[in-house]
Amino acid sequence: MTPEELEAQIEVTAEQYRRYLNPTLPNLLKFMGFGTVSHSADGMTLTDVEGNEWLDFLGGLGVFSLGHRHPKVVAAVRDQLERLPLTIPIFFNRQQAELAELLASVLPGRLQYSFFCSSGTEAVEGALKLARVHTGRTQVISAERAYHGKTLGALSASGRDLYKTPFEPLMPDFKQVPFGDLAALEAAVTGRTAAVLLEPIQGEGGVVVPPDDYLPGVRRLCTERGALLIADEVQTGFGRTGKMFAVEHYGVEPDLMCLAKALGGGVMPLGAFCGTPEVWEPFRTRPWLHTSTFGSPGGNPMACVAGIAAIRAMQDENLPARAAALGTYFLGRLHELRSEFPGAIREVRGKGLLLGLEFEDEDVAGLTIAAVARRRVIVAYYLSNPRVFRFEPPLIVTHAQIDRAVEVFRESLQETLSLLEGVEPD
Ligand SMILES: Cc1ncc(COP(=O)(O)O)c(C=O)c1O
Repeated sequence: MTPEELEAQIEVTAEQYRRYLNPTLPNLLKFMGFGTVSHSADGMTLTDVEGNEWLDFLGGLGVFSLGHRHPKVVAAVRDQLERLPLTIPIFFNRQQAELAELLASVLPGRLQYSFFCSSGTEAVEGALKLARVHTGRTQVISAERAYHGKTLGALSASGRDLYKTPFEPLMPDFKQVPFGDLAALEAAVTGRTAAVLLEPIQGEGGVVVPPDDYLPGVRRLCTERGALLIADEVQTGFGRTGKMFAVEHYGVEPDLMCLAKALGGGVMPLGAFCGTPEVWEPFRTRPWLHTSTFGSPGGNPMACVAGIAAIRAMQDENLPARAAALGTYFLGRLHELRSEFPGAIREVRGKGLLLGLEFEDEDVAGLTIAAVARRRVIVAYYLSNPRVFRFEPPLIVTHAQIDRAVEVFRESLQETLSLLEGVEPD
């Protein structure tokens, strides 16, 4: 195809978006520098229909921790597809049972039981429901700037008004306190509190790492007051922060944990909420208390074999340790950038390969994303904090690729700053 034909083909897709998906989204994506159509992907690289290769430093918002199309996950899914892609929930589902056992072997503390679903927000909904029925209480305390998803319960616990206000009134009895502030939580948790729902390290809020004594303090408080601690590890789970689960940095064992994103190995959508035997008690007497067609309890065979292959690959390739080492290197490089641009970059922070770079100015952030995209590196900002650039590459990223991304970022920021000063970049 000629370049003109390819461009026309992309425009057909953009027009279908405008007419049948969303009238404004294509222009927004183009403005951000990403208005193309993806064609294929492999490892750290995404290729668009024009044959351009993009270096992925967004990792599908945390989905592609193993990189794109990990061969063992692809092989497991392909094999399952040929035999039994979906099954009926009144036969045993061997793939689901095996995944639940494997998951229990890597989960922290006494987390043992799992309910599988497809997305993070479903995992959070299930955990919230179970916390209510288990405790017989209704109140849920979460953190300001949290992100737990966009279904009604998860949204009620989330933090950005932009996504919440149009849907008010949301769920009653949800309260938010500043993240990392134990005194605020102590004042909020009462005998009516069913659960404290927290991301151990806030992701979409712009990568907020709490003080070291925060989560152990939250654990103590929940135990004292009979509230459950729900750790939302949808984004931090599976090695992202340098440990298999972020709670392990703090030696904390939650009562419930929410998972999704990387669990499906970047090949299938898969989520789960997991709990201790005590917390699971309401499901013992009522096994169909929480179900859906694809989740009763969920986990279609194709997604489950992807999950099994993904966890094994993470273990075989030692990805949590890799994320810790590469994350330290990457953060060091970002600190160098901050010293170079002290007026533009307010802070760099994070753990493992969940990294954020906070700009002084939101407009500079937006323009820099577009400049980075022109150089074919994929990055974005965090949903609950658009001033913060997110760097969440697959955990297979190399030192050389990090160096490349840092160089691209430096050039792009320089270009943006020169543009805003009205000076032509040289
Ligand atoms: C911590 C956390 N919880 C829940 C969700 C919602 O997951 P999903 O978009 O799969 O519904 C996200 C998504 O970014 C997340 O980061």
